[in-house]
Amino acid sequence: MDRGAQVSERLRSEERLALLDSPKLSRLDGAIGIRVITLEGVSQSFTSKRTSIDALTNVDLTITDGECVAVIGRSGCGKSTLLRLVAGLLTPSRGTVRIDGTPVTAPRPDVAMMFQRPALLPWRTVLQNVLLPTEIGGRRPGDPRDLAHELLALAGLRGFEKRLPHELSGGMQQRVALCRALVVRPAVLLMDEPFSALDALTRTELGEELQRVHMERGTTIVLVTHSIEEAVLLADRVVVLSPRPGRVREIVDVKIPRPRELGPNGHLVEVAETGAVLHELLADR
Ligand SMILES: Nc1ncnc2c1ncn2[C@@H]1O[C@H](COP(=O)(O)OP(=O)(O)OP(=O)(O)O)[C@@H](O)[C@H]1O
Ligand SMILES: [Mg+2]
Repeated sequence: MDRGAQVSERLRSEERLALLDSPKLSRLDGAIGIRVITLEGVSQSFTSKRTSIDALTNVDLTITDGECVAVIGRSGCGKSTLLRLVAGLLTPSRGTVRIDGTPVTAPRPDVAMMFQRPALLPWRTVLQNVLLPTEIGGRRPGDPRDLAHELLALAGLRGFEKRLPHELSGGMQQRVALCRALVVRPAVLLMDEPFSALDALTRTELGEELQRVHMERGTTIVLVTHSIEEAVLLADRVVVLSPRPGRVREIVDVKIPRPRELGPNGHLVEVAETGAVLHELLADR
């Protein structure tokens, strides 16, 4: 990247951070508070005519209001399944998932899900994709278009509003999906490896921005990630699942003060120490 491009990239990211400070984003307030998500004895099996796969077994977990919880574990251990259960896209084979005491039986308007793949509608423009959930859910105060534009600018997608998904890179599509998840001002944000298709720098920047949304808006976040560093940067607690069938092997508290940063001013030692603990737990068969 030449010097001019570096400067304009830097300005773009500063502009994005400035937007997060903007009082306009107070529109994200007004999300209905959710006090607690509980999973009690949750098991999930997938049965077909020929086979049965146990994806999760006997998971007990409580997530409280405003927490950011990361879920890590080996591929196939049931992380996406766990998120889909909380999102109401699956009903557990055994046990119960409750939000504020009410069993989750269907998707809720106050819980947004960001899937492992962006799943954008190919015939809709970027802006129309972001606005989709506002057309399906009930009306909320204010014009959702204003918030959609702000979120797209925040995600570095200003000028791409009228493009179609196939005109975007994989990372840009994922950022559109992040905007789509935030546009309903969810009380709970469920994220399945949201940054996996991004380059390292954008990944860190968006991670830091997500941390600010979490800190400033109190959004409860459940984040599935393969990145130990990302889990330590973002989470209050990290749930380590065992290999399939997934069960909770350990829950590690991350006590590093916020805002957490990587880079020269970051909490590099603490991030490395907590990361090493998580690495040991993941490697232990
Ligand atoms: N709809 C389904 N039908 C049948 N089996 C399924 C279904 N969804 C998941 N599984 C199985 O359940 C197990 C857990 O899948 P899941 O997608 O939750 O894993 P994961 O931890 O998210 O993996 P990855 O890190 O690779 O995304 C896998 O063995 C998978 O094959
Ligand atoms: Mg998955």
